[in-house]
Amino acid sequence: MKTDKKGPLGVLILAAGQGTRMHSALPKVLHRIGGRPMIHYTLRLAAALKPAAIGVVVGHEADTVRKAVADSLADWGINRPVTFIHQKSLTGSGAAVLESMPFLKKFKTALVTAGDTPLLTFDTLHAVLKQHEDQKSQVTLLSARLRDPRGYGRIVRSPLGEVVRIVEELDATPKEAAITEVNSGTYCFEVGLLVDAVKKLSPKNAKKELYLTDALEHIRTGGGRVSAYMTATGEEAQGVNNRLQLSNAERILNRRMLERLMLSGVTILDPNTTYTDADVEVGQDTVLLPGTILRGKTKVGRQCRIGPWTRIQDSVIGNECEVICSYVKDTRLLEKTNVGPFAHLRPGTVAGPRARIGNFVEIKASRMGYGSKVPHLSYIGDADIAEDVNVGAGSITCNYDGKDKHKTVIGAKAFIGSNVNLVAPVRVGRGALVAAGSTITEDVPDGMMAFARERQVNKVRK
Ligand code: UD1
Ligand code: CA
Repeated sequence: MKTDKKGPLGVLILAAGQGTRMHSALPKVLHRIGGRPMIHYTLRLAAALKPAAIGVVVGHEADTVRKAVADSLADWGINRPVTFIHQKSLTGSGAAVLESMPFLKKFKTALVTAGDTPLLTFDTLHAVLKQHEDQKSQVTLLSARLRDPRGYGRIVRSPLGEVVRIVEELDATPKEAAITEVNSGTYCFEVGLLVDAVKKLSPKNAKKELYLTDALEHIRTGGGRVSAYMTATGEEAQGVNNRLQLSNAERILNRRMLERLMLSGVTILDPNTTYTDADVEVGQDTVLLPGTILRGKTKVGRQCRIGPWTRIQDSVIGNECEVICSYVKDTRLLEKTNVGPFAHLRPGTVAGPRARIGNFVEIKASRMGYGSKVPHLSYIGDADIAEDVNVGAGSITCNYDGKDKHKTVIGAKAFIGSNVNLVAPVRVGRGALVAAGSTITEDVPDGMMAFARERQVNKVRK
C-alpha cells in the first residue's frame, strides 16, 4: 500500500445539512455564536492550517450559505482559495464527501470537518495532522471522551484498543451506546484510500443515509491503519445540533475569549453577563462591568470603564474613556471621553478627547472636538462641532429636510443654549452664542449672539 504522506493538504468543511434539530428557517451553520455565523470559526481554523485549498460543501439554502462564507472570508481577510461543492441530494455526510471527491482528489491528505463544531482549536487540529503523519495512518479521527455521549457516534475499539469502527447512536446496541468515547466529526484521510471507501458506503442504517463514519471501517478492512487522537478535554469536540448546544457553545467560546482578556490585564466583574468577540482588543486596567457586549472589530483602550449594560460594535475607544448603559456602533472616542448613561452613538461619530456625551443623546455621522459637551437630550446628526463647544439640553440639529441630509458646523467655544433647533445647512461661528429656544435658519457669524424666538411679553393676569 502506498502511504506517501507528503504533498498538499486540502480541508473540506461539511455544511450542506439543514439542521433539522434547530427548528429554524436559518441554515444551522449560519446560527450566530459570538456575533458571527458558526461556520466562521471553522473557516478561520481551516485557513490557519494553511492548506492548499478549502472546500465547503453546501446544499440546504446553498446560496445563503455561500454568501455568508464569502462575507466571512472578506470580513476576516482570508484570501485562501475556497471551492464550493454543491451537494445535490442531502443523504448524509458520506454523500457529501462522495460528491466532493473531484475536489479532494487533488490532495494527498484531506482534513474533513463539519461546519457545526465551532469549539475546535488550532492546536488540536494541528496535533491530529501531526499524529496522522507520525503514525503513518490512513485515517486519524479526532475523538473525545464525554460524560454524556448522547447524540454522537461512538468509537468501537478492539480488545487491543484499535479503532474498529464508529457506530451511530441510532444504530448502536445498548452495549455500544454505553461507550463514552465519541466521534467529533473531524478526520484526516489519505485521499487515495478514501476514494474507494466512499464508493462502498451504503444507506443500510437507521437514517438510510450514507455515513462518512462507515468509510473508516472500509479503509481498515482494506488494510489501512485507522487511529484516533483524543482531545484532552471533551469540550472542543462538542457539536451544535440544537439550540441548547448552541447556547452551550456560545458560553464556552465566550468564556475562552474573556479568559484571554482577563489574563492580559482586563477586569471583568461578571463573566456570565459579559460578551466579547474573537477580534476584540481591550487594554490593560480597563474594567468591563456587567452586561457589556463588545462586538466585531472593537478596540478599547487602557483604563476605561465600560458598562454596565453597554453594547459597543466595530468601534475604537481611546484610553480612560467611560461608557455607561449605551449603544455604540462604528464610532471613535478619543481619550477621556465620557458617554451615557443612555446614549446612542451611530456610525460615523468621532468625539474627544475629553468630550462629554450625556444622557438621552443620539449622535450620527458627526465630529465633536476636544472638551465639547452635549450633556442632555440632544440629537446631533451630520455635524462638525469644534473644540470647547457646549450644546444645551434638548438642542438638536435639523439635518434632514425630508429629501436630503445637510451639515451643521459649530465653531470652537460656541455656546448653544437649551432647546435650540439648528436647521441645516447652517454654521454657528467661533465663540458665538445662540439663545435658548432659538430656531436657527441662518449662519451666526463668529463671536455674535443670535436670538431667533419670540420676545417674551408679560401681561396682567385676568
Ligand atoms: C455526525 C457523525 C457522528 C459524530 C457527530 C459529531 C456521521 C454519520 N455522524 O453526526 O458520528 O459524532 O457528527 O458532531 O457523520 N452534512 C452535509 N450533508 C449531508 C448531511 C450532513 O454536508 O447530507 C453536514 C452537516 O451540515 C454537518 C455535518 O455534515 O455540518 C454533520 O452532520 P450532522 O447531521 O450534524 O451529523 P451528526 O448527527 O451530528
Ligand atoms: Ca452535528
